[in-house]
Amino acid sequence: MLQYLQLRNKVLSEIPVITIDGPSGTGKGTLTHKLAEQLKWHLLDSGAIYRVLAYWLIQKNCEAPDVESVIHYANDLPVSFKSCPGAKSSVYLQDDDVTQLIRTVDCSRMASKISSIPEVRMALLARQRVFKKLPGLVTDGRDMGTVVFPEAQLKLYLEADAGVRAKRRHKQLIDNGIDVSLAHVLAELQARDERDMKRSAAPLRPAADAEIIDTSHLSIQDVLARVLQLVGERFIVA
Ligand code: DC
Repeated sequence: MLQYLQLRNKVLSEIPVITIDGPSGTGKGTLTHKLAEQLKWHLLDSGAIYRVLAYWLIQKNCEAPDVESVIHYANDLPVSFKSCPGAKSSVYLQDDDVTQLIRTVDCSRMASKISSIPEVRMALLARQRVFKKLPGLVTDGRDMGTVVFPEAQLKLYLEADAGVRAKRRHKQLIDNGIDVSLAHVLAELQARDERDMKRSAAPLRPAADAEIIDTSHLSIQDVLARVLQLVGERFIVA
């Protein structure tokens, strides 16, 4: 088990951060959980914050919210995470556990739409940066390596074929009891990719210094092994 890490060639003077960015269905979430568990580091699922905001707006019947309202809700967002050892962490909106409720296709679409508003991204920036704590942070999203943690010592960008990603997302939704067709998941995923990549504020793209991994034909164990190799090359395991 990796207990403590130092940057190779220099003493670590910063809290270590590993960022994992990429589009939906590339395996970012699973990889982030497995890596954080193995390293015993903190974890931030930044997409969950955008999803909770989307869910809150949907609950308030703001299906087509104006920009002012979204910014207002983003500034006051009562989101929190509770981690249980050995399990994925739970996401709360006030006192309600919304872990599963934020995973619907409607929430995904709304999260992608509101995340294009620069003021919303600004309002949520500080909430994300507080997760950077010793012994380290593993975080996943769209702009972790480019905007939120540009100082990260290891940046990963996962990508995969859209058809493969849609099948993975479809399975996740069905496993969570959400009945939806594969064709609908693929169309939503492509629309979301397009929005996330083409927005002007923090668009989805690899950081210049990111390691790019295509997970189309790799199992999660293969990806984890590759990433642990990169961790070993980039950090000294003491
Ligand atoms: O990672 P996810 O599928 O849970 O993210 C949902 C949406 O939230 C995604 O389509 C765009 C937005 N998002 C973002 O803009 N920036 C992030 N760092 C994470 C998510």
